[in-house]
Amino acid sequence: MQIPTHLAIIMDGNGRWAEQRRLPRILGHRKGVESVQNIVSECLDLGIRYLTLYAFSSENWMRPQEEVEALMTLLGTFLKKELSQLQKMGIRLMAVGELDRLPKSISEILKDSIKKTADNDRMVLNLALSYGSRDELTRAMRTLGREIAKGTLQADDLTEADIEAALDTHSIPDPDLLIRTSGEMRISNFLLWQTAYTELYFTETLWPDFSREQLLLAIEEYSRRQRRFGLTGAQLRESKVDGWEGRH
Ligand code: FPP
Repeated sequence: MQIPTHLAIIMDGNGRWAEQRRLPRILGHRKGVESVQNIVSECLDLGIRYLTLYAFSSENWMRPQEEVEALMTLLGTFLKKELSQLQKMGIRLMAVGELDRLPKSISEILKDSIKKTADNDRMVLNLALSYGSRDELTRAMRTLGREIAKGTLQADDLTEADIEAALDTHSIPDPDLLIRTSGEMRISNFLLWQTAYTELYFTETLWPDFSREQLLLAIEEYSRRQRRFGLTGAQLRESKVDGWEGRH
């Protein structure tokens, strides 16, 4: 089986999982955290090197205040509780998104955990928090615009590598596989630049029900795909063209 180096997941369906059981939505999110814990350890077992989880989008701030607060509380508890597990498992925590928008208490725990796990090298757990791809690209454009204004960068010299370097994900390779749970077939403002050549996998399973079996089904399907990166199948077989392997 071909294991993706970088797996990204849109964890959708917590609310519906709870509603189907006539439970408050937050219980769906709580169950969703259990799936996070389980899938993190399964990914580590499988040898995945980067796992990016879409935990809270820029748009999620517009949900009812009660739900936003409950999600932030869950996130804080998760970060506090999981630090020792991350250390034990050798997992490095990273985060992308507009982190300054997070409540101070959360951003402090987050920064602390990121710092404390910085030397771990078995897997990167990258949390997308207050993340929106258009927001990330806008912030990157501002950074590059300032450089152009200062004269440290010439507009005509701007390269894809410059844009990549200005993104929150600059030290992380592009995802090989993106999974979205709960039957929705959308990207929802997630890693728009980075998923240019990512394989997409959609499952009806709601995130709280997403288990090792579901993960293996997704990776088996990924293994059967031929990634061509814009080339022909024949070119890939002959491996005559240099450079495509470097494109994640
Ligand atoms: C989508 O379900 C999920 C979210 C908006 C939040 C995901 C958060 C977690 C799994 C818990 C916190 C994460 C971490 C890393 C501790 P939805 O509410 O949109 O579900 P619905 O579409 O069925 O309403």
